[in-house]
Amino acid sequence: MPSLALHAQSRLKEYLPIIGLPDFNKLSAKLIFGDASPTIEENLMTTVQCLSGTGSFSVGAEFLAKHYHQRTKYIPQPTWGNHPKIIPIAGLPVKTYHHYDPSTRGLNFQGLLEDLGSAPIGAIVLLHACAHNLIGVDPTLELWEQIRQLMRSKGLFPFFDSAHQSFASGSLDADQQYVRIFIAEGGECLAAQSYSKNMRLYGERVGALNIFCWITDIAFPRPLDLQQNLEDKVFIYGDDNIMNLEATNDMSPRQVTR
Ligand SMILES: Cc1ncc(COP(=O)(O)O)c(C=O)c1O
Repeated sequence: MPSLALHAQSRLKEYLPIIGLPDFNKLSAKLIFGDASPTIEENLMTTVQCLSGTGSFSVGAEFLAKHYHQRTKYIPQPTWGNHPKIIPIAGLPVKTYHHYDPSTRGLNFQGLLEDLGSAPIGAIVLLHACAHNLIGVDPTLELWEQIRQLMRSKGLFPFFDSAHQSFASGSLDADQQYVRIFIAEGGECLAAQSYSKNMRLYGERVGALNIFCWITDIAFPRPLDLQQNLEDKVFIYGDDNIMNLEATNDMSPRQVTR
């Protein structure tokens, strides 16, 4: 009986603000960028709770399609099957960059550098934050540093997809070293997070989208506009999800307030 009461409490379905639970957003940003990340303390990070990794990635792609000046998005070859499906739906043309060398079953680093080196200035580049899905091949820290330097020298925009934080090394912190190196020098980026696997929240669809940007009118509008734009978008996704849950989840019907 006590466990039933506990369970009942954990299923409170109070309405959250449109951008999600503020504490969750802050902790989620800290999990990927680190406790001491100055970007969070200085309010340069906007985080919104989204529908798991897929929803976070989709919102980020749509946001860039609407607000970023360069439209082409580069994805690694190969990559998670939904990447090349989601990006065109968001309205961005997709190109690929080499990642895998089947002959060595390792990284095709030369191909990767050549492809990103010939990408147009400012292009968006999808980077698997760690434990690359499909192939589990990640660059070493030294190679990441070379990728970072190349990307920054060409103004390429990093969009991290973090669906397996802790799966590569066993450590939540160690797995995000690359992402943290990218933002340590102050460069802007987007990062989508999924908690399906590392928190075993497969069915709950828990995730977050982080936008790190400086106050600049070159690439982005001001943070306040950012927040508003994201609120609009998340509202749309949230609504869709509510309908899906109602249609499919007969074990736990939810009360929806509209
Ligand atoms: C690289 C990558 N991104 C995003 C996702 C989607 O995550 P979710 O199932 O939480 O939507 C996955 C799922 O396997 C993935 O491998």
